[in-house]
Amino acid sequence: MKTNGGSDAAKRNAGESAAAAVTDGMVVGLGTGSTAAHAIRAIGRAVDDGLDVRGVPTSFQSRELAREAGVPLVDLDAVEDLDLAIDGADQFAGPHLVKGGGAAHAREKVVDAAADRLLVVADPSKETDRLDHPVPVEVLPAARTTAAAAVRDLDGEPVLRDAERKDGPVVTDNGNLVLDCDFGPIDAPNELASSLSAIPGVVEHGLFVGMADEVHVGTDDGVEVREF
Ligand code: 5RP
Repeated sequence: MKTNGGSDAAKRNAGESAAAAVTDGMVVGLGTGSTAAHAIRAIGRAVDDGLDVRGVPTSFQSRELAREAGVPLVDLDAVEDLDLAIDGADQFAGPHLVKGGGAAHAREKVVDAAADRLLVVADPSKETDRLDHPVPVEVLPAARTTAAAAVRDLDGEPVLRDAERKDGPVVTDNGNLVLDCDFGPIDAPNELASSLSAIPGVVEHGLFVGMADEVHVGTDDGVEVREF
């Protein structure tokens, strides 16, 4: 599993804090990444203790993990809305996020946006005053060159994400490619989000503007919850 920055203890504290918000009867979005994984395992333990919940996975990884943890699952296309989603982030500034380090941001955005509440789980290395993390942009394979040119027109520097332990690019769960697009500091995330969405061939980008309702920031010793 891909991991970034903070310690495993910090990620576990964040994940378990958010998982504690899951109550009987909920339909819950299960995010992707090493921090959300702790939330999925904690929900699995609660299911063992009798919690009645259904999870909506956001990726191959979160589906496999939820199955191992014993969380009952329902497909994304079988639900209209969700009570809660728990998801990680590569960077956050208040309620604004950059996601997609695991190339799962297209399904994550559908799930997170459909949830009544989005709880983000992160360690302190993810927090910033102004977003400046490269923005992952999922593109149709045939659009990678034209989409990259359009990103350059927006003053971004696109890099095709390479796979690890495979020659060639990362191929997403949806069969597409990812351009990691460096825009430097992002002063107007909403405008950039709209511009990226308007590029032909872009399936989804990793700017989640104003989407977090809470960020659970884990440390080695505990957790701080930011509410928006
Ligand atoms: C996957 C994501 C992840 O939530 C993000 O990369 C954070 O992962 P981690 O908790 O492992 O740092 O957006 O697409």
